Amino acid sequence: MGYIKSAALEETGFVVLDSYNQELDPKEWLDVEYNDWKSSGDTRFAPLASAFGDIECNGFWNHKPPRTDKDGVWIDSQVEKAPNLARRAQEPGANVGRCRIIELQPTPYGECLYNLHQDDNNRLNPDGTGWVVRGFFNLTDDKDSYFVLRENRTDPSLEYRIALPAGAQLIVDTQRLWHAATHNGDEPRYCLITSWTSGPELDAYIAKYNGKAHTDQVEISPEVFEAGQVEQARRDAARAAYYAAKGQVEVQAMSEA
Ligand SMILES: [Fe+2]
Repeated sequence: MGYIKSAALEETGFVVLDSYNQELDPKEWLDVEYNDWKSSGDTRFAPLASAFGDIECNGFWNHKPPRTDKDGVWIDSQVEKAPNLARRAQEPGANVGRCRIIELQPTPYGECLYNLHQDDNNRLNPDGTGWVVRGFFNLTDDKDSYFVLRENRTDPSLEYRIALPAGAQLIVDTQRLWHAATHNGDEPRYCLITSWTSGPELDAYIAKYNGKAHTDQVEISPEVFEAGQVEQARRDAARAAYYAAKGQVEVQAMSEA
């Protein structure tokens, strides 16, 4: 039967929406409660919606009963502190699974490449229903930072680098594309990440905000580009050696950010 997917995401696996006027809204991401959650990179998360409405970030399939990343329960104490963010996450009218704010410490390009991962949004997702994708709303004005997307984790020949100023909005099939953020700056980056179920509601939202499957590429110098590939390979080799020394098979974990 197959999953219901957005045609708009078929070509590249992502769309960039019109920018949001972030400056008009209060900095709600500074008020909410964060918890430590190991993801790719040095991160903390503040959930707005979780499996059962608790302030925790575990995949819904790790709860009892296990379920896919749909029907998230809004956390009253967090939504009270971040009503505009909760409103924005619900604006498409698509089913919301996990919804949380990520706090990411500065991350150079090479470390970002090492962090590239695919999400596991569709575990336990019933065939014939909507495919779960993710919305990313950049909250801080990270003018020198960019999202990195690849079809193949270690093939730099096809790499999208998408700018992350305040108000940047994109939707990504994060189970298809390898993804991570390069964050150049002194302060943490904050971004709202929402799991949405694909379907007519999400399609209408993408159309309303002029979702585009292509965008201007953030340019980086050949030196930074090359050094990044070397750093990714170095970290990958170190990781493989670590597991080999322990006599374990290396597992390329799917993670959350
Ligand atoms: Fe992710």
